[in-house]
Amino acid sequence: MANLITSFKYICLSLLIYAHSMYVMAQWPRGGSTRFYDFKVQTMSVTKLCNTKEIVTINKMFPGPVVYAQEDDRVIIKVTNEMPHNATIHWHGVRQMLSCWSDGPSYITQCPIQAGQTFTYEFTLVQQKGTLLWHAHVSWLRATVHGAIVIYPKAGVPYPFKYPYEEHTIILGEYWMRDVVQLEQAVVASGGGPPPADAFTINGHPGPNYNCSNNDVYKIDVVPGKTYLLRIISAALNMENFFAIANHKLTIVEADGEYTKPFTTDRVMLGPGQTLNVLVTADQKIGRYSMGMGPYMSARNIPFQNITSVAYFQYWGAIPNSVALPAPLPSFNDNLAVKTVMDGLKSLNPINVPKEIDTNLFITIGLNVQECRSENPQQNCQGANGGVMAASMNNISFIRPKISVLQAYYKKINGYYTDDFPGVPLQFYDFVNGAPNTPPNNTQSVNGTRIKVLEYGARVQVILQDTGTVSTENHPIHLHGYSFYVVGYGTGNYNPQTAHFNLVDPPYMNVIGVPVGGWAAIRFTADNPGVWFMHCHLEIHLSWGLSTVFIVKNGQGALETLPHPPADLPRC
Ligand code: C2O
Repeated sequence: MANLITSFKYICLSLLIYAHSMYVMAQWPRGGSTRFYDFKVQTMSVTKLCNTKEIVTINKMFPGPVVYAQEDDRVIIKVTNEMPHNATIHWHGVRQMLSCWSDGPSYITQCPIQAGQTFTYEFTLVQQKGTLLWHAHVSWLRATVHGAIVIYPKAGVPYPFKYPYEEHTIILGEYWMRDVVQLEQAVVASGGGPPPADAFTINGHPGPNYNCSNNDVYKIDVVPGKTYLLRIISAALNMENFFAIANHKLTIVEADGEYTKPFTTDRVMLGPGQTLNVLVTADQKIGRYSMGMGPYMSARNIPFQNITSVAYFQYWGAIPNSVALPAPLPSFNDNLAVKTVMDGLKSLNPINVPKEIDTNLFITIGLNVQECRSENPQQNCQGANGGVMAASMNNISFIRPKISVLQAYYKKINGYYTDDFPGVPLQFYDFVNGAPNTPPNNTQSVNGTRIKVLEYGARVQVILQDTGTVSTENHPIHLHGYSFYVVGYGTGNYNPQTAHFNLVDPPYMNVIGVPVGGWAAIRFTADNPGVWFMHCHLEIHLSWGLSTVFIVKNGQGALETLPHPPADLPRC
């Protein structure tokens, strides 16, 4: 409710400021109205799991405020950093047409907003509607600095499904009792893997299965017979998760902010950064039912949190405090459950699925173990076989430069990156079954800030191939600045002779969970100039270098050219 009132205030405010901003609007794709938001990055003390700590938030809300807008709206968000760490905010899934400067990943499109500084993000939601999320894109701050973006269709345009009685956002998260910025530093310095989260959370609440959390539970009250739209968002850090509701079916109608053909299932899986809109009808006996969030862990020998986070889906008239039926979550390694949901995702209205390809890329994704070079191996080489953990694309671990790639590119400053990211792996081998992490195999990657330049308008295909170096694993790969069609996926090594592609109604997504020990093929047209990060959305893999950058060149004329940077772009 507080959210709604705040957004109404902003709507009124925006009417006032609208006239003033007309002149700025003229140079952008024509939008609907303009929405203004004021984000203050602030610390706040919270008590969870019998532990009190300071967390970083936006406007002292956890999860943060919802950004409400309508398709084609212009959104202006002033972010003021009132805490000691660096900050940036990324608008995950927003395509940032001609507004790369407002994308938000630190050292990719901007330097961080330093303590006490302000940066105003501005973008237009060109032909976008549905559920997305915003999150911090510095260190591991995303753990508590995240929130929903809800974009309604234009006035008078209905949803392509039964109008729900009510809508709710469900944000899946992971919670640490330790300071997450220090935690990232400590984990990277150790050379080993991260500790599991202390709890999974649903809208910030761990639920009754955790210590001291009997009353720290999220709840939706439902009217028998009514249909609800749940906007499910994963803001988890290092885990992929299943979600299910006891005795209730979920009908997926949208994935990553794009409508899908309705698909009914008992459970869904979301990797970090993914969003799913599902319809749920309260068609069961009056009572209290669990909404459960549990782990999906596809890698071998990784410790993870295994306690289900529970929220309540509670019918009006249910006996208060009645026992909730448990949600039917698959087991943590149920790859088939994941595939079944993937198989069910089909675009409702696919437009322009690229049929011809101009640029073909083959990119391996996976983990590495580097040789220990520390004088203090006990402290710094806690990875497999006494090495240091790393992660890579085409065996290159991405190192973030000291100024943003976008600034270096735009101002033509040499020395911060090289444009030699290879379009195919440096070596071909049995990616899935070869190079297990045992001597004498070489499990090392090379470090570099290597990017790939794409021509404006190129129709691009990327085959993402999981590797078994260290362990195979499902990796949620995210591309900034674009959605892409997921035209194919499968297990094992990609083989063009046997791969089956769907060019008719593939889902249009911004994160693809590349199957464990398998591959996925994505296609997009490079029609948005700028510098676009592509990375694994498991934060530890990002820390270890599982990323690369596409630079999409300008095309012709103002509508195909990245505008100049905003005056308040943070300095490094
Ligand atoms: Cu949602 Cu680069 O991230």
